[in-house]
Amino acid sequence: MVRRLRTGVEGFDKLIEGGVPEGFFIAVTGEPGCGKTIFAIHFIYQGVLDDDKSIYVTTEESRESIIKQASQFNMDFEKAIAENKLIVIDALMGREDKWSLQNLDLEVLVGKIIEAKKELGYGRARVAIDSISAFWLDKPAMARRYSYYVKKVLSKWNFTTIAISQYAITTSEAFGWGIEHIADGIIRFRRSIKSGELRRYVLIEKMRQTNHNKYLHEIDIIPGKGLIILGPLERRKEDLSLPKEVFKKIIESRKKIEGEIP
Ligand SMILES: Nc1ncnc2c1ncn2[C@@H]1O[C@H](COP(=O)(O)OP(=O)(O)OP(=O)(O)O)[C@@H](O)[C@H]1O
Ligand SMILES: [Mg+2]
Repeated sequence: MVRRLRTGVEGFDKLIEGGVPEGFFIAVTGEPGCGKTIFAIHFIYQGVLDDDKSIYVTTEESRESIIKQASQFNMDFEKAIAENKLIVIDALMGREDKWSLQNLDLEVLVGKIIEAKKELGYGRARVAIDSISAFWLDKPAMARRYSYYVKKVLSKWNFTTIAISQYAITTSEAFGWGIEHIADGIIRFRRSIKSGELRRYVLIEKMRQTNHNKYLHEIDIIPGKGLIILGPLERRKEDLSLPKEVFKKIIESRKKIEGEIP
């Protein structure tokens, strides 16, 4: 039987047979502002509740910003840190304290994560790296090798890992080539404007050993609550019918042929 870790996102776990398989390395990708960080915050806080050794690595925002964001959704990161259930590693501010990184070096990070695990104690652990692509910004060709290295080392240390990778908007692919192949699962967030309103969605593109849901689901971010799954996207008319231009061409050529027939 596959042991699974709950994500803490209401309505999400049932899309993946109850949770993320233990020891997995999951890539979370998507455009800016579509919910990746908030998803990672839920995942880590659920770890605190489920008695996992929980670690959050932040490269995009400061430790304080993550703590504040979590508190807006009633997740008390400060208390969890005080109780030695959670460590937030800050790789942005370059501070001198024990849980800060001076620069974005992946080997140093992995060492720091293992150090944090030792501090938190023996047992099952989970970590969110937000974002992992920050570590190969100047060398995207290394993405595959780097993610393989992180996956290999952290799984030995009993970690289940969520690795956020930013989206290259130009190519619509995760930034840096290869993380999506290395990953045991891919969770992709998306956004669109519908009737002048920002809508956000999530799709499970891959989850090894799991009969996962295959539909795009609309999500929302609610004050005091965080990320929720609203439901599967209805099959839209555009998915089923041909684009207008194509349809017009078919009609035109049919008319032409009919005109030629005496
Ligand atoms: N307290 C809140 N109440 C409601 N919505 C909020 C709240 N805090 C943040 N949000 C929403 O969440 C969005 C940010 O989501 P998140 O930080 O998870 O994005 P992201 O995918 O990590 O983006 P990036 O790639 O830029 O880091 C905000 O733009 C806002 O729409
Ligand atoms: Mg973010």
